[in-house]
Amino acid sequence: MIKFEHVTKSFASSGGQTVFNDVSFELREGELFCLLGPSGCGKSTLLNLLAGFEDPTAGTITKRGQPIAGPGSDRGVLFQTFEALFEWGQVLGRGVSVIV
Ligand SMILES: Nc1ncnc2c1ncn2[C@@H]1O[C@H](COP(=O)(O)OP(=O)(O)OP(=O)(O)O)[C@@H](O)[C@H]1O
Ligand SMILES: [Mg+2]
Repeated sequence: MIKFEHVTKSFASSGGQTVFNDVSFELREGELFCLLGPSGCGKSTLLNLLAGFEDPTAGTITKRGQPIAGPGSDRGVLFQTFEALFEWGQVLGRGVSVIV
C-alpha cells in the first residue's frame, strides 16, 4: 500500500549532507511497522517524507500507487514531544519510561 522506492534525502541547509540513501521498502495494509535506529539516523526524517512535510531529494514515495504530494488527512503523525509520551508508564516498576 505504501511504497518507498530508492528514496534519498539530504538537506541543503546542512551542506547537502545525505541523511539516508537509496531506501526501498513496501508496507502492506494493516501491517505494523517499527523503524529502529540510533538518534540522528533519520527515522523522523523518513516519517516526515511519508507525512508529506518534506520532499525526497531522489526516489519516489507512493500510497496506493499515487505519489505523496503533501500532508493529507489520510496520514496522521504523533510528534515526539515530551507531552505526547506516556512518561508515567513504567516497565516492571524499574523506572523505565514507555515511549510510544
Ligand atoms: N530540517 C532539517 N534541516 C537540516 N538537517 C536536518 C533537518 N531535519 C533533520 N536533519 C538532520 O537529519 C539527521 C537525521 O535526523 P532525524 O531527526 O531524522 O533523526 P532521528 O533518527 O529521528 O533521531 P531521534 O532518534 O533523535 O529522533 C540529523 O543529522 C539531523 O540533524
Ligand atoms: Mg526522531
